[in-house]
Amino acid sequence: MLSDDGAVTVRSATWEDAEAVAKIWIDGWRDAHLGHVPDELVAVRTEESFGVRASQRVADTTVATVNEVVAGFVMVVGDEVEQVYVSKKHRGTSVATILLTEAERLVAANGHRKAWLAVVAGNPRARRFYERNGWTDEGSFEYAASTASGSVIVPTHRYIKELPGQTSR
Ligand SMILES: CC(C)(COP(=O)(O)OP(=O)(O)OC[C@H]1O[C@@H](n2cnc3c(N)ncnc32)[C@H](O)[C@@H]1OP(=O)(O)O)[C@@H](O)C(=O)NCCC(=O)NCCS
Repeated sequence: MLSDDGAVTVRSATWEDAEAVAKIWIDGWRDAHLGHVPDELVAVRTEESFGVRASQRVADTTVATVNEVVAGFVMVVGDEVEQVYVSKKHRGTSVATILLTEAERLVAANGHRKAWLAVVAGNPRARRFYERNGWTDEGSFEYAASTASGSVIVPTHRYIKELPGQTSR
């Protein structure tokens, strides 16, 4: 694993982070999903849509910063780790693991003993990353990806991880 340029800090996102989150989100979404999700979903995941969603989801978002610049983010809702995204520059560093560990802590703090997430089958880097961090592939799963007008069903794999009890920050 490469070393980071500086110390990695995690904190709750603020409105000021939404633009940086949207940029990392759209780049990473394209890297991970183009060719692996229905065209119907690609059509609605426009650049503008990521800006809107990043603003709408600030309360669910935790960011990782390196030298005070946003390097990645996670979104946690209940027991689901919804998004784990790291900027290209910071992939292969400790940023993703630090974010995932924080997401697991948040799921446990939400009162759950098991976390889950969905990942498209054709995303081997993410799948290897989750497996290396103790997550288990439970098999094929039809994920309903939210859109402005409803949802699109995406073939994914569901991963789960058993968590220790609630911990304080
Ligand atoms: C998924 C993501 C957060 C993981 O963070 P990361 O810093 O890239 O992860 P790491 O580099 O620590 O780990 C990736 C692992 O996959 C391996 N890998 C890389 N490319 C691979 C490929 N094409 N096939 C299989 N394994 C691959 C790496 O060697 C590494 O495994 P190792 O530690 O055993 O060597 C990051 O890649 C990302 O933001 N991707 C784009 C968005 C995304 O896919 N998000 C997840 C949506 S569910």
